[in-house]
Amino acid sequence: MLASNTVQILVGDSRQVLGQVEPGTVQCCVTSPPYWGLRDYDHGKQIGAESSPEGYVSSLVAVFQGVRRALRDNGTLWLNVGDGYARNGGTGRSGPNALVGNTKKLIQQRNCKVPNCWGLKDRDLMGLPWRIAFALQEDGWLLRSKITWIKKAPMPESVKNRPSNATEELFLFAKNPNYYYDSRAVREKSGANLRNYWILGPDSSGVPHPAVFPRELARRCILLGSQPGDVVLDPFSGSGTTGVVAAQSSRRAILVELNSVYAQQSRSRIAQDLQLTMIL
Ligand SMILES: C[S@@+](CC[C@H](N)C(=O)[O-])C[C@H]1O[C@@H](n2cnc3c(N)ncnc32)[C@H](O)[C@@H]1O
Repeated sequence: MLASNTVQILVGDSRQVLGQVEPGTVQCCVTSPPYWGLRDYDHGKQIGAESSPEGYVSSLVAVFQGVRRALRDNGTLWLNVGDGYARNGGTGRSGPNALVGNTKKLIQQRNCKVPNCWGLKDRDLMGLPWRIAFALQEDGWLLRSKITWIKKAPMPESVKNRPSNATEELFLFAKNPNYYYDSRAVREKSGANLRNYWILGPDSSGVPHPAVFPRELARRCILLGSQPGDVVLDPFSGSGTTGVVAAQSSRRAILVELNSVYAQQSRSRIAQDLQLTMIL
């Protein structure tokens, strides 16, 4: 059992490592997995590098089976995931399949071919967030909300034949119908019940990880989905944002990260940000 105000970082593949988490002990899971075929996280077992998007959806279903096992019966899963386009050949300079950051390596690995599934054609938006949501629903999760994250400062795109993308999906799933949700924890400025669109600015956390989500996104999920002292889980922890915010909110956290370099960076980030008891 974790002592209060601790962050535990487990290094490895979530599909295996989540077996180390005591069943029924986690109150909420807040996470963002790698998006399919976008960034290369430099590990043979990374999720997101599957040869087909169907394989990617299956990988995520397997991870979230481990998450469901770890959750309390009244626990919730908050899942942020982005979409992508089916493309033949070049990827362009911008957009979800753009040659930015370390994207190129992964795009080349899958040879820029339109995946042979779901009737996809060149330039089709794949609808991955909803395909994942439906697969999780079919696997037993209760899908309770779709929140649209509206980005105040989205990645610029030079497209001329469609609007630029400036939103991402965040899904709220529950293990059971009687789940814990504190509607008083985060309200609209007017005092009204929180709406399902969140307008969030960029986060100047300054960490070297390529895909950090805003602390405010994690904060809202953690406050709505748990109480002080509860355990919050992130099976794709990256730079450790969920752990940082959980500890700042007096929650305990269990983080899982495949790449040991990112795990080490999150240890330093958490140690710098907070005076915490860390289990290394
Ligand atoms: C989108 S990033 C998460 C970023 C995080 N939300 C943050 O704010 O820093 C996804 C992370 O999942 C990790 N990852 C990929 N495959 C994994 C797996 N099988 N098990 C655990 N982590 C994995 C990647 O190394 C990457 O750091």
